[in-house]
Amino acid sequence: MNHLVTGCSRGVGVEICRVLLKQGHTVYGVARSYTDEFKALESEYAGRVFFKSIDLSDSKNVRKSVFKNFISNNIQLHGFVNNAAMAYDDIVTNLNLDKLQAMYAVNVFTPMMITKYALRNMLLHHTKGCIVHISSISAHTGYKGLAMYASSKGALEAFSKNTAREWGALGIRSNVVVPGFMDTAMSSTLAEEQKDRIYKRTSMKAATSVHSVAETVAFLLSDAACSITGQNIHVDNGTI
Ligand SMILES: NC(=O)c1ccc[n+]([C@@H]2O[C@H](COP(=O)([O-])OP(=O)(O)OC[C@H]3O[C@@H](n4cnc5c(N)ncnc54)[C@H](OP(=O)(O)O)[C@@H]3O)[C@@H](O)[C@H]2O)c1
Repeated sequence: MNHLVTGCSRGVGVEICRVLLKQGHTVYGVARSYTDEFKALESEYAGRVFFKSIDLSDSKNVRKSVFKNFISNNIQLHGFVNNAAMAYDDIVTNLNLDKLQAMYAVNVFTPMMITKYALRNMLLHHTKGCIVHISSISAHTGYKGLAMYASSKGALEAFSKNTAREWGALGIRSNVVVPGFMDTAMSSTLAEEQKDRIYKRTSMKAATSVHSVAETVAFLLSDAACSITGQNIHVDNGTI
């Protein structure tokens, strides 16, 4: 199966690529930086893993950058994993519209545009394809300073549910994985004390496993999940 994974350069994205490659799939990865971690996958799985450096903040050019120049119409796409995202953290009284729009471009507008063209590819090839969006527990459990970021993930969740409704009759599925707090570059600015406070809100009192999130994505892309669509699957150590 051919899967497009955004944000493949590090963190959750590169782990999703690793799990999919291990399972025998072909991976088309997109991010801005071409990292050693991704290059290591290319040496291990030569011929089944491809990379394109694309700045996903340019929502208007998605058709050209992602589809014409990378996933052309003769590639049959089975899965799209919308993982790339950025966080704009601040309290609401400091909200800056330019920063909000910049975050929404990467977290919401571009994923919606990629979904549009991924669906068209699936329709062209009569593929019972699958879309998986990566949300965040912050969309369900409030955290001070994450209102803007969480709202972008809430938008994705609504988009996914409605996409599932719109295309389910053709066998195309759309689901969301909702991770809890994970130890990645995105969360690296938090102090140990802030991390501890977040861990205390989970049943398991620990950071969510990046590998567990990646395995859940791979499960949702697989035939084993053929009756699962329009769902949000929480992988969050039981966050309350
Ligand atoms: N970390 C957490 O605690 C946590 C919790 C819940 C949900 N999440 C979600 O999990 C997903 C993965 O996050 P992570 O923790 O792995 O974050 P990360 O380590 O910061 O990785 C983010 C990825 O997105 C890519 N990206 C960001 N902006 C981009 C742009 N303009 N164009 C292209 N690629 C871009 C980055 O690649 P380049 O920089 O190379 O472009 C990188 O590969 C995200 O959707 C995040 O919202 C994270």
